Order: sequence, then structure tokens, then C-alpha cells
Amino acid sequence: MKLIFATNNENKVKEFKSLVGNNFDIITLQDAGIDIDIPEPHDTLEANALEKSETIYRMTGTNCFGEDTGLEITALNGAPGVLSARYAGEQKLAADNITKVLQEMEGVTNREAQFRTVLSLILDGKEYQFEGICKGHITTAVQGEKGFGYDPIFVPEGASKSFAEMDLAEKNQYSHRAKAHHLFAEFLKSVNA
Ligand code: IMP
Repeated sequence: MKLIFATNNENKVKEFKSLVGNNFDIITLQDAGIDIDIPEPHDTLEANALEKSETIYRMTGTNCFGEDTGLEITALNGAPGVLSARYAGEQKLAADNITKVLQEMEGVTNREAQFRTVLSLILDGKEYQFEGICKGHITTAVQGEKGFGYDPIFVPEGASKSFAEMDLAEKNQYSHRAKAHHLFAEFLKSVNA
């Protein structure tokens, strides 16, 4: 089955392909020759995920999916949440976002946080959503150099190192995105069967 993944984030594509293997023909926006930065104008992950899949479906008429992820920190009342990508400004720089979070969390003892991914699939014109949550905590300093985004300051529950200290296979054992993608892949298998 051919599916367009409505993202420009190569890391997400890599993570997705490592999960679903070769069962699906995953076309990236770049592969499809689409050069747009899809906006994230809404105040929920659900609405932004739908914005991504809908935008590409409207443009191509091809089955597609998009996703939106947020880091939700309990002590910050769920921030950065839906603003995760541009928490420290429109330049969307991971290093700046990390610095801002670490500053806001300075001296805070409750370091509980979670990553939440919402995936929106449009299949033959109908939308389906899948959610993946990974609970964990925010470190007090940057740890590790792998991964992307907030990986260097997030340690998933049950692990003793940050996402940025794990290779992809290890991150996938815990990750929010892996959980959402597993549900998604199961669903696709069921409709394909
Ligand atoms: P978006 O889903 O691309 O809008 O991502 C929102 C923000 O969360 C961006 O700053 C990403 O870098 C960050 N992010 C998304 N997924 C992950 C992840 O798996 N690890 C760390 N940061 C992530």
C-alpha cells in the first residue's frame, strides 16, 4: 500500500521505516516532490496532526498520514505541549528549546513528563487517529548526542539513560512514536487483510 508521510522530518521517517519494515510503500514529501512546511496552527496535537494529513490529502488525493508530538511536563502544566517545536521561538531550534526547559525546571523536584504522539491517517477520505504515550522524567542537564529534539533531556520510565543515549532500536522499545506507529501498523494490516 502506498502512503505519503506528511513530514519533512527525516528522523521521523527513519523511525517509522525501522518499525514497519517494507510492508508499506512510504513516500516522503520530498519523494512526492512536495515542498511545503505544513503549519501547526491549532491548540491541540489532534488538530495539528489532522491539519498535516488533510493538507497533503487535499493536494495529492493519495492516502496519507501526519503526526504531531508534544513533550508534556507536569510541573509546567503540560508545557511545552503543542508548542514543543517552537517553545523558544520561531527558529524552532532544539538546543534553544532544551535550554528554555532546563531553565524553567531549575530547582523543580517534580520532573515527571511524557511525550505524546497523535497520528492522523486519511484512508480513502476517512480519518483515523492513533495515540502513543511515553512517560518519563526530565533530566537536570543534557545527556547524550543521538536522536533529535528533546531527546537529550528525557529519560523514559524503566530506563536509566536518556533517549539521546540510545540507538534507534532501543528508543523504539519505549517511544511514544513507536507506540502510535504500532497501533497504526496493526490497523493497516487489519484493513489490508
Ligand atoms: P512535531 O511533531 O514535529 O511538531 O514535534 C514537536 C517537537 O517535539 C519538536 O521540537 C520535535 O523536535 C520534538 N519531538 C518530537 N518527537 C520527538 C522525540 O521522539 N524525541 C524528542 N523530541 C521530539
